[in-house]
Amino acid sequence: MGYAEVYAGWQKDPEGFWLEQAKAIDWVTPPVKALDDSAAPLYHWFADTEVNTCYNAVDRHVAAGRGEQAAIIYDSPVTETKRTITYAQLLDNVASLAGALRAKGVEKGDRVIIYMPMVPEALMAMLACARLGAVHSVVFGGFAAHELAVRINDATPKAIIAGSCGIEPGRVVKYKPLLDAAIAEATHKPDFCVILQRDEGRADLIPGRDHDWHEVQQGVTPTECVPVAGDHPAYILYTSGTTGAPKGVVRATAGHLVALNWTMKAIYNVDPGDVFWAASDVGWVVGHSYICYAPLIHGNTTVVFEGKPIGTPDAGTFWRVIEEHNVRSFFTAPTAFRAIKREDPKGEMIKHYDISCLRALYLAGERADPDTILWAQNVMKVPVYDHWWQTETGWTIAGNPAGIEALPVKIGSPTVPMPGYDVRILDEAGHPVAPGTLGAIAVKLPLPPGTLPTLWNAEDRFRKSYLTTFPGYYETGDAGMIDADGYLYIMARTDDVINVAGHRLSTGAMEEVLANHPDVGECAVIGVADELKGQLPLGFVCLNKGCNKPHEEIAKEVITAVRDTIGPVAAFKLVAVVDRLPKTRSGKILRATMCKIADGQDFKMPATIDDPAILDEIRAALQPLGYARG
Ligand code: COA
Ligand code: AMP
Repeated sequence: MGYAEVYAGWQKDPEGFWLEQAKAIDWVTPPVKALDDSAAPLYHWFADTEVNTCYNAVDRHVAAGRGEQAAIIYDSPVTETKRTITYAQLLDNVASLAGALRAKGVEKGDRVIIYMPMVPEALMAMLACARLGAVHSVVFGGFAAHELAVRINDATPKAIIAGSCGIEPGRVVKYKPLLDAAIAEATHKPDFCVILQRDEGRADLIPGRDHDWHEVQQGVTPTECVPVAGDHPAYILYTSGTTGAPKGVVRATAGHLVALNWTMKAIYNVDPGDVFWAASDVGWVVGHSYICYAPLIHGNTTVVFEGKPIGTPDAGTFWRVIEEHNVRSFFTAPTAFRAIKREDPKGEMIKHYDISCLRALYLAGERADPDTILWAQNVMKVPVYDHWWQTETGWTIAGNPAGIEALPVKIGSPTVPMPGYDVRILDEAGHPVAPGTLGAIAVKLPLPPGTLPTLWNAEDRFRKSYLTTFPGYYETGDAGMIDADGYLYIMARTDDVINVAGHRLSTGAMEEVLANHPDVGECAVIGVADELKGQLPLGFVCLNKGCNKPHEEIAKEVITAVRDTIGPVAAFKLVAVVDRLPKTRSGKILRATMCKIADGQDFKMPATIDDPAILDEIRAALQPLGYARG
């Protein structure tokens, strides 16, 4: 069967399609019914089942005689370490850590925050929670203490598992002081912490609260897998919305298992035993789905890579890892390739490696620009598949189903909707538009298994953010179009979310930090185009009357404030001090117009603008920063 038949088969009988895929999962109580629509527009998949994620990701492979197969290959150029962990070893490690957590009181439904660098123990921590039915929430290491505190307050974890440090090129990032500061700031306090001590930066443990990763496991009884209901939350992953308060995306257990397992062959075209590599971070959804869960559920070997595409030690690192570990399918963000291309434009480094084991490159997380795709195709000599998805969906909305049928690639398009997604382009009134016309991208409800059923502790926000604008649809927050062949094109966000090096960030959150500066009266943050990172945040600040501090000093202070409050990952380094901001007569800041000016694009003078002369002031303020030069 080709893609068209598979998609049509799903359309004809969506429940039958997913019940069929569910056969690949080991259930405690198998599904009878796939979809529960009794609370529509809120939907639940496989709610009548009982299952355990860790069993499916680890135990069942050992039980099937594949215990000696590599589950995880850890390759860390920043510590010059390589380590292979078999499924049997992973089972021992995870059962023992789960035993330790249980001995300290963690039970089914309790939340556990994980704040760790890219080490295999991060996956072990996630799986140990899944083993107990505890709900993990992984926080990316590049976030500062305040962001961690916000997540601690929202998830109210019983425990926090952290690494003592992360390693960025040229510096050791001590996680423990950030963790201590976050716990001090948070109103909720965890009962205890488990700390993985790394030799590159050991941490002082607080007696009574902090426990060493290895010591806490000594003498404990390894635990069995605890069955949970199909709609039990497997994890919460916070992602940026339009305000400073991140959204806690909930992932339900059974749908996650069924959908992710299906994608490994259908989209990534790998068979159990093949090596799969997603070069991302466990703190992002790509890391959850494709470093940890999907490859393990499907019985693949997953690569945990602690390094960067360049500088660790050079632009040939990706090729080395592919060759050395026999990677079949490789997944990363376009920005990583832009970095390699910039360092090694002619692709000289790849000539030192044999990457003939690789079948395809998959790109996601941000728009894949044609130059980058063409460059990658040219140097790697494999198909390059762009695919589009979000933290909320957990897996591909639109992609190229290479394991079913490799469709012709149209550069600029992530290809076609996957089974489960009925993607529509709507105008402002919610009416479908003609092929080739730009509009808001929406998905007809219900969303497929594996996608978010709600936001943690925020059902109202879930409804308002995703289900209200277009009743009967999920609003993706992206704008784009579908061409006459059914190929989808993703053009822009419709909200204040920006994408910096494949990382999703909220300009609203940065504005909150800027507004807190005592000399700042008003501010706006926009995303401007950047050759390497796709977008960068740029802040405009208007100073309070009477403030005569030098502008450079103000800029330095707000840059430091964003780094200290949100984290280095925000990459906030551009600030323009202006006298006033362009607004509509009703007082709305014209951010979209400011973006166009910054990027040197044509724009239509907004009919409602209060004073068009301000736009010249904005242009003049942007030019010294290297923008508005078009
Ligand atoms: N812990 C602590 N700090 C971190 C961190 C972590 N886990 N990850 C990133 N940071 C810091 C970086 O050190 C950097 O700090 P700096 O301002 O002091 O230099 C800052 O956050 C920005 O990091 P990053 O976005 O990684 O930019 P970079 O300039 O260090 O590297 C690239 C540029 C293109 C090499 C890098 O962005 C990259 O590899 N991107 C791949 C994208 C990706 O994996 N996306 C995930 C979604 S699929
Ligand atoms: P995240 O939730 O961090 O995965 O970010 C999701 C957002 O990243 C999407 O809503 C898009 O705006 C953007 N995005 C992800 N993948 C793509 C892609 N292949 N093409 C264009 N934009 C993408």
